[in-house]
Amino acid sequence: MLCRTRTQHALSIAAGVSLAAGLLAGCSTQARKKTLSVLFDGVTDTPRPPTQRVRRDLLKEIESLKQQAAQAKEEAAQAKIAAAAKSASPQADEKPRPLEAAKTWEEAAKLLPSTEDMPDWSKALREGLIAPKPGVEPQAPRQPVMSLDVEMVPEADATYKVVFSHDAHTPWLSCGNCHPGVFEMKRSANAITMDKINAGQQCGVCHGKVAFSADACTRCHRGLAEGQ
Ligand code: HEC
Ligand code: HEC
Ligand code: HEC
Repeated sequence: MLCRTRTQHALSIAAGVSLAAGLLAGCSTQARKKTLSVLFDGVTDTPRPPTQRVRRDLLKEIESLKQQAAQAKEEAAQAKIAAAAKSASPQADEKPRPLEAAKTWEEAAKLLPSTEDMPDWSKALREGLIAPKPGVEPQAPRQPVMSLDVEMVPEADATYKVVFSHDAHTPWLSCGNCHPGVFEMKRSANAITMDKINAGQQCGVCHGKVAFSADACTRCHRGLAEGQ
């Protein structure tokens, strides 16, 4: 609030000054005197035009007001960013989660749910056991989660159907992590195969490296789990 009033104030001063400067530059001596008598007490109907000194002081004043206005504008922009970051990460004020108190990986692993003998980070996120920050920068903006499922059915065997969930990926990753570098943003536009995944391409860019491994068949091929 303080910043906004200051900005408005500084901006209106700046607007007033540049108007005055415009008038001074463009008008007749008579009109100039009039303007100056409004701006300065000392200038009255004396026949002398404004001295060099008055002009120079006025220009200096204009310059300093312009700077003030620019600074206030910058401060207001910064305040806006800080406010947005605060509202975007409300968990910043919450008390730490039990998992965050773990001192070693062994301690942490015991507190995590697991699927196919691997930590199930997606489940941990859904259950609120973890709450990853949106970035290392304190003001990193939280990105919106996108709900879009893409069904992928291998021609050879439909039991290996995969439903790729954007809902499960966008809490961790921004669109640019996958599009267009890893996947074209179009259904069925990427011929995905296990060979490529196992070679560290496509889903394998992350799965087997920073996300659960490509050996956990049933996590992607849900049909296999249901058939068991
Ligand atoms: C990270 C997810 C993921 C994991 C884990 C995974 N797959 Fe796949 N798999 C896929 C995707 C995606 C496709 C391609 C689906 C399509 O569009 O046809 C696929 C396709 C297949 C196919 C069809 C033929 C081919 O090679 O493309 C078979 C068979 C298959 N997977 C078996 C397995 C087996 C067995 C495992 C475990 C050892 C496994 N998958 C683990 C994602 C995964
Ligand atoms: C973890 C990787 C990943 C991330 C992150 C990701 N996508 Fe995707 N996206 C995919 C895959 C895989 C497909 C399916 C491609 C295929 O079928 O060949 C896809 C498909 C799409 C499609 C095409 C849907 C259709 O019906 O044709 C759109 C649109 C899309 N994504 C938008 C986004 C947007 C917007 C974001 C960020 C909010 C995003 N994606 C984040 C992997 C990702
Ligand atoms: C850019 C990295 C990245 C790519 C590419 C990627 N994933 Fe993931 N995926 C993740 C991360 C991170 C998680 C969450 C951490 C974990 O579960 O290990 C995840 C989780 C998942 C989950 C668990 C969802 C849940 O709700 O349990 C599935 C299933 C999955 N990915 C399938 C796929 C498939 C299929 C592809 C390829 C079409 C793919 N992923 C490509 C990073 C990626």
